[in-house]
Amino acid sequence: MPSRDFEVFLKSHPQYSKTESLDKLRATDYGRLDRAEHIYLDYTGGGIYAESQIQKHQKLLNENVYGNPHSTNPTSLAATELVDGAREYILRFFNADPKEYIAIFTSNASGALKLVGESYPFTNGRYLLTFDNHNSVNGIREFAHARGAEVTYIPVMLPDMRVDTSQLDRELARPAKNGHNLFAYPAQSNFSSVKHPLEWIEKAHAHGWDVLLDAAAYVPTSKLDLNKVNPDFVPISFYKMFGYPTGLGALIARKPALEKLHRPWFAGGTITVASVQGDKYYLADGPAAFEDGTLDYLNIPALEIGLRHIESIGYEAIGERVNALTGWLLDNLTQMKHSNGAPLVRVFGPTTTEGRGGAVTVNFYTKEGRLIDHRFVEREANKVNISLRTGCFCNPGAGEVAMGVSRVELDVCFTLPSHEERLSLDDFRTCFDGKSMGAVRISLGMVTNFNDVQAFLSFARGLLS
Ligand SMILES: Cc1ncc(COP(=O)(O)O)c(C=O)c1O
Repeated sequence: MPSRDFEVFLKSHPQYSKTESLDKLRATDYGRLDRAEHIYLDYTGGGIYAESQIQKHQKLLNENVYGNPHSTNPTSLAATELVDGAREYILRFFNADPKEYIAIFTSNASGALKLVGESYPFTNGRYLLTFDNHNSVNGIREFAHARGAEVTYIPVMLPDMRVDTSQLDRELARPAKNGHNLFAYPAQSNFSSVKHPLEWIEKAHAHGWDVLLDAAAYVPTSKLDLNKVNPDFVPISFYKMFGYPTGLGALIARKPALEKLHRPWFAGGTITVASVQGDKYYLADGPAAFEDGTLDYLNIPALEIGLRHIESIGYEAIGERVNALTGWLLDNLTQMKHSNGAPLVRVFGPTTTEGRGGAVTVNFYTKEGRLIDHRFVEREANKVNISLRTGCFCNPGAGEVAMGVSRVELDVCFTLPSHEERLSLDDFRTCFDGKSMGAVRISLGMVTNFNDVQAFLSFARGLLS
């Protein structure tokens, strides 16, 4: 018998009923979530794998013999075939023309970002990026600074945490004339879940910028079609898409942009010839030049299994389900009021499902309007087996805007004599006494169901007074 709430939900989000196949899949392929009564709400942190993915991968390993792919013996060739197959499958999955794009295996999205950062010809150029970025994109600025490039941040604005496009347009219109220009932004924020416009890619190209589109938080629930949009560098982490295996990501790169990169070293696997006495090396062609040492050749075949798994469900169903549940979560959370009418939460990011993904970042407040520390909320959630994420999610730019922390306050904190060399997170917090230095992120994914969201809403109601 469906609950009254479920009936109300279905009335306001009728598209949810088209995604019933995901409820069946959850029962058969993700049964452990419900057997262990886990309320998993950290899909932006990591996806959850289906049991069938593991079984298929295990069968492949149990029935075959694979050797190190850098050779021509039979076991090596068998591994090479799987690795090449997975590479092709990744391009096909993202509808990327193999004449235009290549897929480079990395250990995660951060590894893909570092490849770009350490190799990009920043000298005399510019690095333009949004405040809203993961630290692994922010970190590229250190390579840019070291090579004398101009680094410019474009702010995001409260309450929706979207970008001031007039400022972005101004910056895009003035690329460095005597150097290369790189513009980096996330297709979906891992803080506010804002989906930043993919139209920026062509706009930036028109002014001569290379575009790094961080798709790590976007591709778990949205289709990225590289035939429709043509970013130059796309970092992703596969565990965020389908949970297993961890430790593998990719840099999907456009060939003309890749040709500009100059790797700062060589390693086993990246060269055709390297000489000791001759002090010379020749980089390999294609992805091999960017893949240091032996690839994770036993896990790489599990990527094709994971990608096929997503395809068998379809992004449409995943997107519709996540969208409906996010709408219900946002509507209910924003309506929760203490007995004196004071709101329970403040949402950082859009409060409707328009132009956003399935993560909702909030802070909780008491009846008197005092902030409830996010660490307390996490501890309480842990007690009822709810897995969510708290803190700033490695996105300090969005965090600073959301928490209202100013440049001056940060400068004061960083220039204290005791903070010259080292700064612990606790010491950092004491710089901003009275302000929250983090928030609570509830992120929905492929197999989230209505009960998960209801369990969280019931937990949130427990914070009302
Ligand atoms: C938007 C975004 N970019 C990059 C990353 C880095 O991913 P990884 O930690 O797998 O390298 C994350 C991880 O949360 C992310 O959400």
